Amino acid sequence: MTTSVTNVALVTGGAGGLGEAVVRRLHKSGMAVVVADLADDRAGRLVDDLGDRVRYARTDVTSEESVQAALDVAAAMGTLRHIVIAHGGSVGASERVVKRDGTPASLEVFTKTLELYLVGTYNVLRLGAARMAVGEPTAAGERGSVVATASIAAYEGQIGQSAYTAAKAGVVGLTLVAARDLSAVGIRVNTIAPGTMLTPLMETVGEEALAKFSSSVPFPKRLGAPEEFAALAEHLLTNGYINGEVVRLDGAQRFGPR
Ligand SMILES: NC(=O)c1ccc[n+]([C@@H]2O[C@H](COP(=O)([O-])OP(=O)(O)OC[C@H]3O[C@@H](n4cnc5c(N)ncnc54)[C@H](O)[C@@H]3O)[C@@H](O)[C@H]2O)c1
Repeated sequence: MTTSVTNVALVTGGAGGLGEAVVRRLHKSGMAVVVADLADDRAGRLVDDLGDRVRYARTDVTSEESVQAALDVAAAMGTLRHIVIAHGGSVGASERVVKRDGTPASLEVFTKTLELYLVGTYNVLRLGAARMAVGEPTAAGERGSVVATASIAAYEGQIGQSAYTAAKAGVVGLTLVAARDLSAVGIRVNTIAPGTMLTPLMETVGEEALAKFSSSVPFPKRLGAPEEFAALAEHLLTNGYINGEVVRLDGAQRFGPR
């Protein structure tokens, strides 16, 4: 008798604007999904809504213990095959390297931003890949795949974005090295660099601001949909020949200085 093993995906920031769309899409495709986030209320509502094959693991991506506990939740549901790293949040106000009054930018904000976006990504990547590395490979020799989230600010950081840009450029740089390192154990690593996406948070900025954001996108003249991010994430997770790649998802947008 053969028993079918459930493929599990873990999504950091799974209760957030982009993460929730990924959770919904992967769940719809039949995977079991772990929502690894800190937002108890939103995660709880999402899990209640989806019901079957989904669990919330309260996770701080910057903590080894916390990520290991989330990976334990994934292991209890089946075989961890996919990780989408899509957490984020506001760490501090944007500021120039030297402010107009001559004072230098806050080192604390810079460090915290790198901690959340870059260190958090690396922490989930290293611990998650270590779990996948000891799993059974598929017939194609693949043990798993990871999709991280950068931003087009990794390439065209705007005024005041030095911390966020440095963190996201770090994620871009990490992608190929991680793919090369993890080739030894059959794990692919790719990254999405979104432009401006119409997440629920963005919907609150008002029509005028939305129109301004949309007008700077060559085509289509609108913000990206979280579902478009989720569709790309699923493709990168499951297309076995895409590896070490960073894909812009931005309607050909290029950020200007401000
Ligand atoms: N939305 C956009 O337009 C856009 C554009 C480019 C890049 N991105 C990137 O995409 C990612 C997701 O963005 P979003 O718009 O969905 O953000 P969001 O704020 O809607 O969601 C982020 C989620 O991450 C969670 N989170 C915060 N700190 C965490 C931690 N330490 N551990 C675990 N979870 C934590 C939050 O609770 C939240 O649910 C971020 O990395 C962001 O930089 C977003």
